Amino acid sequence: MLKKSEAVRVVGSRRWTVGDPKGEQASIGGPQSRQAYALIHLRVTQGMRNSAYFGMTELCSPKPGETVVISGAAGAVGSLAGQIAKIQGARVIGFAGSDAKVDWLVSDCGFDKAFNYKKISVLEALKTAAPKGVDCYFDNVGGEMTADVISCMNSYGRVAACGSIANYNADRSKPVLVPDYHLNVIIKQIKMEGFLVQRWLGPKWIQGIHQLAEWINQGKIVPRETVTNGFLNVPSAFIAMLKGDNIGKAVVTV
Ligand SMILES: NC(=O)c1ccc[n+]([C@@H]2O[C@H](COP(=O)([O-])OP(=O)(O)OC[C@H]3O[C@@H](n4cnc5c(N)ncnc54)[C@H](OP(=O)(O)O)[C@@H]3O)[C@@H](O)[C@H]2O)c1
Repeated sequence: MLKKSEAVRVVGSRRWTVGDPKGEQASIGGPQSRQAYALIHLRVTQGMRNSAYFGMTELCSPKPGETVVISGAAGAVGSLAGQIAKIQGARVIGFAGSDAKVDWLVSDCGFDKAFNYKKISVLEALKTAAPKGVDCYFDNVGGEMTADVISCMNSYGRVAACGSIANYNADRSKPVLVPDYHLNVIIKQIKMEGFLVQRWLGPKWIQGIHQLAEWINQGKIVPRETVTNGFLNVPSAFIAMLKGDNIGKAVVTV
């Protein structure tokens, strides 16, 4: 039975995480510290955070100066993945679905370029923003956007396939029509790797959380949430997230 003082949040749509904010704060140095916030924040959203961390550092693994593209860039995973790529010295280009998101990515998250994919095509945007080609793609979206980004990639590029949000609501009775990118993967010898973040459960998991907490504490990463209050608002918050209303992680507090 939960006590009134316990903090409870839904993580993903399946699990409950129960935390004791006083305990967390006491162990890491005071309720107002940025580090306290960082650790509490990361512990309740760790699956998404580690998806960004391990997907970027282990699968994309950008070298300094390489060009990285992120789709779903203003979401929880995408915004973090882009900031991690910046820490690794890459040039980062994001695609998101509103001007407000694009502004936030450049002004707060430090992306080099960001585009509203509803206003400009991916191909047109990358022609000017990545004239030397794309080296890494952190893919939250799938579908046509993936085919377009891959067509702009350099030889030996790396794709971390994290999500397929363009297809989650697809009508499964009809084939999903996507331009063929298979030939580009072959000709450019691209390494495209899907992942489930559970792959890194075990000793590495907490390393990811602590590294992210340190970066947040140092001000190198700016986390953001869009918060909806009340358990009864879970369905509307979920639909709003799929419509793209959230910036950063969509969270429902109960
Ligand atoms: N592989 C793993 O282990 C793992 C773990 C966690 C999450 N994921 C996946 O990672 C992805 C990102 O998760 P998240 O929590 O950060 O979600 P999110 O970005 O907060 O929410 C989804 C966002 O995707 C964008 N979007 C929706 N439909 C789109 C479409 N048709 N084309 C392009 N963009 C679209 C919307 O923003 P816009 O306004 O930009 O359109 C929306 O806000 C999801 O696909 C999720 O399933 C994978």
